[in-house]
Amino acid sequence: MKKINVAVDGTSSSGKSCMARALAEYSGLTYIDSGAMYRAITLYCLDNGLISDGKVDEDALRKVIDSISITFAKNDNGLQDTYLNDVNVEKQIRGLRVSNSVSIVAAIPFVRHAMVARQQAMGKNKGVVMDGRDIGTTVFPDAEIKVFVTCSAHERAMRRFRELQSKGDTQVTFDDVLANVQMRDKIDSTREESPLRKADDAIELDSTHMLLDEQNRWLIRLYDNYKEQP
Ligand code: DC
Repeated sequence: MKKINVAVDGTSSSGKSCMARALAEYSGLTYIDSGAMYRAITLYCLDNGLISDGKVDEDALRKVIDSISITFAKNDNGLQDTYLNDVNVEKQIRGLRVSNSVSIVAAIPFVRHAMVARQQAMGKNKGVVMDGRDIGTTVFPDAEIKVFVTCSAHERAMRRFRELQSKGDTQVTFDDVLANVQMRDKIDSTREESPLRKADDAIELDSTHMLLDEQNRWLIRLYDNYKEQP
């Protein structure tokens, strides 16, 4: 079969990364978490004093953005970790400190252009499954398979809350997580530069009442059906 790209878009904590990862494992496609790239840039900004009072120092960020290295490597558990300038930042980029600021960083047009260019370079020879917000609309508008995952905000906050608790984060409350999910939805879908939007040719999946395993199998079935096409 010829190599293809798969775009998996949707709101935060809708299960799209798990689905994309499961498909990568099943199919041999390379998984790329585009959100991790925006999170890594956000961590860089926070650690270098480029965010204060909820505002990003855009001039300073613009000067360094092309020199910031973001890479991925598999850890001992077979999961992908994110590296910022060669330092493993996987844990830090998933915490609320980064989650609370990532939408404002991801809304800056020159940040998006820089990340989209890197993402397109990773998928130019096909063979990639990438999850994000604008993969089907902007990064890979010619992806062979496009999926748009939705899920109620309450259910997404519950999933994220359980995940944080299982990772030992006991400080954060459910209400904090729900507020963060709702705030990010609002910023992600109302920003001017490539907002969260379903591509016209994407297949929509409402995952509110689905188990993760069901979601994973749904995407794998879609991929298998595509492969079987003449
Ligand atoms: O998928 P995630 O929750 O890890 O994404 C983190 C943030 O980055 C989220 O607020 C939306 C933004 N993002 C984006 O704007 N475009 C993408 N392709 C991926 C993520």
